[in-house]
Amino acid sequence: MSRSRMGVGLAWFLLTVSVAVFATSAQESPNRTAPRRADGLAAWQQIHSVLIHPRCINCHTAVDYPQQGDERRRHYANVVRGPDGHGVPGLQCATCHQESNANSTGVPGSHDWHLAPLSMAWQDRNDKPLSSAAICRAITDRRTNHNMDGPALLKHNAEDTLVGWAWEPGRDIHGNTRTVPPLSRAEFAEATRQWVEAGMPCPQL
Ligand code: HEC
Ligand code: HEC
Repeated sequence: MSRSRMGVGLAWFLLTVSVAVFATSAQESPNRTAPRRADGLAAWQQIHSVLIHPRCINCHTAVDYPQQGDERRRHYANVVRGPDGHGVPGLQCATCHQESNANSTGVPGSHDWHLAPLSMAWQDRNDKPLSSAAICRAITDRRTNHNMDGPALLKHNAEDTLVGWAWEPGRDIHGNTRTVPPLSRAEFAEATRQWVEAGMPCPQL
C-alpha cells in the first residue's frame, strides 16, 4: 500500500468516526435534558406543596395584611403590613411577635418576624393562591426575589429562620399545636436542591 492510499484511508476512518460521534451526541442531548426537566418538575411539585401550606403562604400575601390559621383568615386587630412588612408605628409585628413562640399566649415568634414583600406574593388580591406556574415564575424572577439565583434560593429554603419556623410553629391561642407543611424540612431542602440542579424548571401553564 502506498503512503498516499494509507493517508486517504486514515482520513476516511477519522471522518467516519467523527460523523458517528456527532450523530450520537446530537441524538443524545434531547434525551438527556428531557428526563432532567421531568425530574426538576417533579421536585417543583414537592416544593409547591410546601409553599402553599398556610404556615408559609400566610406571610406571602398580596394584600395589606398577614393571614392566620389553617383557614388563612385575615390577621386580627387590623394588623397591616406597613412600608416594609414590619407593621406601622404603634402596631409593629415585634410588639407581639417575639424571638420565639410564646405558647402560653399563642403568639408565634421568630427572629425579625415580618411579612414578605408584595413582590413575593404567592396569592392574588382575593387571598386565592396563584397557580403553581405563577408562583414558580415569581420565585425565580431575580427582579422580584431580591436577586436570588439557584444556590441562594437553596440556601434560603434550607437555612432561613422564618422558613424554619414553619416546622416549629408552636401552639395557637386555643392551645392547639399548629399544623406543619407536608414534607419535612430536610425533604424540602433536598427537593429544592434537585430542582436547582435541574435548572429550576417551571410548569408551563
Ligand atoms: C413570618 C413571615 C414568613 C413566613 C412564616 C415565611 N416567610 Fe418566606 N419570606 C418572608 C420574608 C420577610 C421574605 C423576604 C426575605 C428577604 O428579605 O429577602 C421571604 C422570602 C421568601 C422566599 C424568597 C423568594 C421569593 O420570591 O419569595 C422564599 C423562597 C420563601 N420566603 C419561602 C418560604 C417558605 C418555604 C416558608 C414556609 C416553610 C416561608 N417562606 C414562610 C416571610 C415569611
Ligand atoms: C397585637 C398583637 C399582634 C401584632 C401587632 C401582630 N400580630 Fe401576628 N399574631 C398575633 C397573635 C396573637 C397570633 C396568633 C393567632 C392565632 O393563633 O389564632 C398571630 C399570628 C400571626 C400569623 C399566623 C401564623 C399562622 O400560620 O397561623 C402571622 C403570619 C402573623 N401573625 C404575622 C404578623 C405580622 C407580619 C405582623 C406585623 C405586620 C403581625 N403579625 C402583628 C398577634 C399579633
